[in-house]
Parts: sequence; structure tokens; C-alpha cells
Amino acid sequence: MSTNSSIDWRQLHGNAFTGARVLVTGGAGFIGSHLVEAFSALGATTVVLDDLSGGDQANINPFANVEFHQGSILDETLLARCMRGCRYVLHQAALGSVPGSVAEPRRYHDVNINGTFNVLEAARAAGVQRLTFAASSAAYGDSEVLPKIETMATSAKSPYAAQKIAAEAMLQAWSGSLGLDTVCLRYFNIFGPRQNANSAYAAVIAAFAKAVIAGKNPVIFGDGQQSRDFTYVANAVHANLLALRQTAPLGGTVINVACGQRVTVNELAELCLKILNRPDLKPQYQAERAGDVKHSVAQMDKAQRLLNYNPIVNFSDGLAPTLKWYQQVLGQ
Ligand SMILES: NC(=O)c1ccc[n+]([C@@H]2O[C@H](COP(=O)([O-])OP(=O)(O)OC[C@H]3O[C@@H](n4cnc5c(N)ncnc54)[C@H](O)[C@@H]3O)[C@@H](O)[C@H]2O)c1
Repeated sequence: MSTNSSIDWRQLHGNAFTGARVLVTGGAGFIGSHLVEAFSALGATTVVLDDLSGGDQANINPFANVEFHQGSILDETLLARCMRGCRYVLHQAALGSVPGSVAEPRRYHDVNINGTFNVLEAARAAGVQRLTFAASSAAYGDSEVLPKIETMATSAKSPYAAQKIAAEAMLQAWSGSLGLDTVCLRYFNIFGPRQNANSAYAAVIAAFAKAVIAGKNPVIFGDGQQSRDFTYVANAVHANLLALRQTAPLGGTVINVACGQRVTVNELAELCLKILNRPDLKPQYQAERAGDVKHSVAQMDKAQRLLNYNPIVNFSDGLAPTLKWYQQVLGQ
């Protein structure tokens, strides 16, 4: 289902990607499929490597000029084949759940660390021009300092966060001494259509949508005063495209990708109930989850300075179409 159709990628990025061949690892997932959609609109050919452990081929079926390979970034032979002729790599494949990483640290380590190593090595061997990496705001830990600025010390509160921080260091090393230009885009709570609501570890907006559409109370872990910089997915796509278009080397630098707006989980729940018109439902509070951070809002000066990035869709403008999409796919 095409859902970014309201965004005119051509107007934003012109012919910058026309005829380019790009690899999106994890391209059948939520964010990856939105990258694929934009590249398709921009006249690029996208190679997707995804093992479908979290994604779904249906996410990318509607889009033109896509070569799909079902397989893992742990398969070096397949990776080398996918990488051939690619100008850019957008490394999105990962196991992405904080509680999942607490439950299965080794499996997460294999994909998020060893898999990232494989992607970097394959990109270097293929002479890729630039690689963008789906880094995470989880790297900031639960520091009370707001907003989060890229110069702050990192702090890993979960295996997932540790793996994202380690991967950033790997990207910097591959840029510093192995000749591959890279950039770490630290995503802040990305949401939008195609985000999986059926996973046991669904992100909060997806989980709220699923519960409310099924007529159940949304579950909040903790007191709901935790805040997030919820970022509509088109903004993450835009930041990736801007990063690829930069003429100066980016050298593995870390850049926040967010909306710059602080919203509490209580406010989010209230807004979801309002948009979905369920005044009869109320949030249900459960114990805080291990590894969850309390507050998160980004400073975006660096993204503006280095990438000329500004969000193209704000929080509430992104929430309404997202909830409408969940209503369509989850029934009603
Ligand atoms: N959604 C967010 O808010 C957010 C925030 C920060 C960072 N990120 C990062 O962004 C990236 C994309 O996240 P998403 O939200 O789209 O999640 P997602 O689960 O929808 O996408 C990840 C994709 O990677 C694929 N994958 C997993 N293991 C693989 C493997 N071994 N080989 C090939 N493919 C594999 C999955 O099948 C899935 O399609 C991830 O790296 C995630 O850690 C996401």
C-alpha cells in the first residue's frame, strides 16, 4: 500500500538519484520500505536484502524498480552479490527491540554487530560511494539532559543500545582508515504506516493503535510521563536522501534525525483515543520495562548545518494518517 504518496520526492530531491542503484538492507521492514518507496519515485533501482524476520515482502510489492533478495546480512556471498554496482547503501537491517535484546542478547549481537561488520566489508569491497546507518537515540541512555546533542557521552542501557553504539564506532573506523564514507543517522522514535503492530515488541504508537482498534485499553509501561521525540517516517527518509547527496565526506559522523518536539506517552495515548474516537477507553498502567529510557528529545542543529535537514512532516500531521492506515489494515 502506497502511503507516502502525498510527499513529492522529486520536488525535494530532483534528479539526484535517477538511474542510481542502491542497496537497502532490511528494505522490506518499516523504515526500509519507505526508503524503497522514495527511491522508486525518484527513478532509482533499489536492491533489497531482507530475511523477513521482521519485515514483509508485501511492504515493497507496490513499488517499481525493486530487486528483492530474501536472505540475511550474515550471508557474505549473498551480500557481495547484492552490493554489486551499488552507488549507495542504506543499512537498516537489524533486530530492533530493546526488550528483545535483553531476552536474546546473543542473537541480537550476531545480527546487529556481525551483520553490520559484513555490510561494511562488502560495501568497501564493492567501492560504494556512501553508506548511511540506522543508528538510534537509545545511544543517549537515560541521561536527564535535554535536548540530546550528538556531543553528549553515550550510555548503553540495553544490549540493543550497546550494539547501536558499537556499530557507530565501526562506521567511524571504516571511514577513518578503510576508505568507506559513512554516516550514522540517530533516529528518534520513528513512526508511520507499515510499522509492525503484531510484534510482541511493537513500538508504542503501533501498539496503541492495535489495542484501541481492537476496543482494548492502551497499555502504558511506567507512569506515562516519559517523553519521546516521535518522528514521522518521511522525515527519516528525507534525512537519508540528504545525507547521500552531500558532496563533502561525512566521515562516520553522528547526526540526530528527529522532529524536535517533546510528547509524553500519556499525551500520545490521549491523542490516539481522540483521533480513533474511543472516549470509552482509558490507558492501563503496567510496570516500567527494563532498559527503557525516561526522556528523549533531539537537538537538530547538526542535521540542519551538515545536511540542510528540517522535518517535512510534524508529529500531529503524521499521526492522523498513521492511525488511519492501522484502521485499514487491522480491520474496522
Ligand atoms: N523504528 C524506530 O523508531 C527506530 C529508531 C531507531 C533506530 N531504528 C533502526 O532502524 C532500522 C529499521 O527499523 P524498523 O523500525 O524499520 O524495523 P523493522 O523490523 O521493520 O525493519 C528491520 C528489517 O530488517 C530485517 N532484518 C532483520 N534481521 C535481518 C538479517 N539478519 N538480514 C537481513 N534483514 C534482516 C527485518 O526483516 C526487517 O524487515 C533498524 O536498524 C532499527 O534498529 C529504528
